[in-house]
Amino acid sequence: MDDWRHAGFGLYIHWPFCQSKCPYCDFNSHVAARIDQTRWLQAFQSEIDRIGTLTQGRILNTVFFGGGTPSLMEAATVQGILDRIRATWTLANDIEITLEANPGSVEAARFESYAKAGVNRVSLGIQSLDPEDLRRLGRMHSVDEAAKAIAVAQSTFDRVSIDLIYARQNQTLAAWRDELHRALDFGTSHLSLYQLTIEDGTVFGQTTNHVTT
Ligand SMILES: C[S@@+](CC[C@H](N)C(=O)[O-])C[C@H]1O[C@@H](n2cnc3c(N)ncnc32)[C@H](O)[C@@H]1O
Ligand code: SF4
Repeated sequence: MDDWRHAGFGLYIHWPFCQSKCPYCDFNSHVAARIDQTRWLQAFQSEIDRIGTLTQGRILNTVFFGGGTPSLMEAATVQGILDRIRATWTLANDIEITLEANPGSVEAARFESYAKAGVNRVSLGIQSLDPEDLRRLGRMHSVDEAAKAIAVAQSTFDRVSIDLIYARQNQTLAAWRDELHRALDFGTSHLSLYQLTIEDGTVFGQTTNHVTT
């Protein structure tokens, strides 16, 4: 039997902030007027130190920056976290370091510096390629911005994944099929497809029985 306590492992870093709260989302994400990234970096580093002492000698296979919206992190914050990770564990030669990004132009402008910090894969929250559905989902980006962010990501990282949400309000099978073809045409290395889940405590959860458009 494999001895999992000494096997390779993955690290998940959670950035719990967003520019705005999407009406379907029940992730641990908050909108804050001001975020002290220096303090957050110190907190992440001290947690890495703590976990490091519990996992000495183990090989790190993956790092995943999830959220919230990790693409709101300053490049220096990502760099500081990855520097501390490199100082703490032996990294697998083929380590995968993913950062979840929203496809706004501000975020895309940071991709290069994330890559310099060591990120080698991005997961982009595209959600929909339909302008009206992006509006209904409360997204801050347009279809055009999404396409541009995918192009910047593909020119910066070897691996790019995009998230789409299906089973949206009034979505037909034919429209979803067409949207999937357009998504495949981007040629990203991975797609994540999520069925829209109506979560308690979200705006969609409060209005499922009388949704207005
Ligand atoms: C951590 S979340 C968001 C990442 C990033 N902040 C964004 O919005 O692009 C990861 C993915 O979960 C999916 N997701 C979140 N809430 C969902 C819901 N209620 N139903 C289905 N998919 C959901 C979205 O596709 C989202 O991109
Ligand atoms: S879907 Fe993404 S951007 Fe929207 S609130 Fe959730 S974590 Fe934030």
